[in-house]
Amino acid sequence: MQRRGPRVGLAAAFVLAGLAASPSMSWTTPAMPPFQAHVDMKTFMEHVLTPAAKVVWSVNGSVIDANGERSLAPRTDDDWENITSGAATLAEATNALLIPGRARDEEWNAYVKKLADAADKAYQAAEAHDLKAVSEVSDRLDGICAACHRHYGLE
Ligand code: HEC
Repeated sequence: MQRRGPRVGLAAAFVLAGLAASPSMSWTTPAMPPFQAHVDMKTFMEHVLTPAAKVVWSVNGSVIDANGERSLAPRTDDDWENITSGAATLAEATNALLIPGRARDEEWNAYVKKLADAADKAYQAAEAHDLKAVSEVSDRLDGICAACHRHYGLE
């Protein structure tokens, strides 16, 4: 531990020396990354957002087959991996809703943020294999999607 101080100090000295040696160096803000919307909003909703949301919804779902009713709640590590993937995809997909040109008005970002926060919670809960927490987010998810749809007159 004691050797840390001097090492950091040395690194800092190098950085400072580097700066001093190149006075012409300028700090520029990187150009806006070339975000690109690949699909239209309808396709995005149907094929990107919905499949990811369905995975999160599945934790509270059940299926009925020849053997009777069976809960879809995650049990095995593989089940949990699947929920983690859905929640992570949903969370990351919310960034794509913020690509320039996609927002419909000033309130758009706030609706996206609500969805992002919920997806983030679902992701954390899935990582922790916390069924109660992921189930709670899953219950709220529909309302979060619907609030945005209502605002834009879609339902
Ligand atoms: C930030 C606002 C917003 C949020 C949040 C949002 N949507 Fe949408 N959604 C839209 C808009 C806008 C449309 C209309 C797209 C179009 O037809 O141009 C739409 C349309 C849809 C459609 C209909 C597509 C079709 O066939 O016309 C589905 C399905 C859908 N959304 C699913 C979801 C799900 C599931 C969620 C939540 C996980 C969600 N949406 C969250 C804005 C949102």
